[in-house]
Amino acid sequence: RRHLLGIEPLHPSEIVTLLDLADDYAEATRRGERHGQALRGLTQINMFFENSTRTQASFEIAGKRLGAEVMNMAMQASSVKKGETLIDTALTLNAMRPDLLVVRHPHSGAVNLLAEKVNCAVLNAGDGRHEHPTQALLDALTIRRAKGRLHRLTVAICGDIAHSRVARSNLILLGKMENRVRLVGPPTLMPAQVAELGVEVTDDMAEGLRDADVVMMLRLQKERMDGAFIPSEREYYHRFGLDAAKLAHAKPDAIVMHPGPMNRGVEIDGTLADDINRSVIQEQVEMGVAVRMAAMDLLVRNLRAA
Ligand code: CP
Repeated sequence: RRHLLGIEPLHPSEIVTLLDLADDYAEATRRGERHGQALRGLTQINMFFENSTRTQASFEIAGKRLGAEVMNMAMQASSVKKGETLIDTALTLNAMRPDLLVVRHPHSGAVNLLAEKVNCAVLNAGDGRHEHPTQALLDALTIRRAKGRLHRLTVAICGDIAHSRVARSNLILLGKMENRVRLVGPPTLMPAQVAELGVEVTDDMAEGLRDADVVMMLRLQKERMDGAFIPSEREYYHRFGLDAAKLAHAKPDAIVMHPGPMNRGVEIDGTLADDINRSVIQEQVEMGVAVRMAAMDLLVRNLRAA
């Protein structure tokens, strides 16, 4: 495989291989060991056409830990602002012969289109409502480490499902690994074809969280709502915000996840988000670096073997 564009094309065995390698990287980092220089001599360009804290920083750290030369394109200061298209921008950077392009873009499918035009490996860092594969992989690693397995778990994904590439990639990955997924949220924030997804759907948090092993909260993505109904934040928190009372419907050892950035007091209670006995939100961030190291390492191995 030359690119990582989504979870959809991945075989479960590829997911396990990547998570195993990421786990090794995570443990080596915790032990303070130096990592092998799997990306030494390679050039990694990060192109973020949308804001990011976690994904951009962790791709940069991941590349540097493995010895890559990492360049963060300042898209706000680039010729995109003069009207240069995504493809022309990508072709221009491709001519400088990078080895890895990490791309985030607001339009679904933009990263796949770009991958067809360049010679290097492309990693999707989130495209519109389509996919955010490394987020789903870091979520999977976090779940596997907390629960000791990544199959036959009940996972409630809650909130703004309609606009969420995180929900989409997680839904695909958790389904491939034979978990039971429930989508919980207001009908106005469910995808139009939700019935075709083959998962349980409810607008009742008590029902959705019942006996869940994992509760994954999502941000209200107002920037993608295009005038769709947005409930008042107070009303939304009352019905769908995760607090201790709603979490009591899940299993006593259920973990709480959130991909970030969080709206405290909107989709999640701030105290619960910080409760290290329940929340694995900071572990998700930590696993983000390890998963991105593994993803780039494996793609480069594939390129070298080709
Ligand atoms: N989870 C996530 O993608 O966060 P950022 O937008 O900060 O990268």
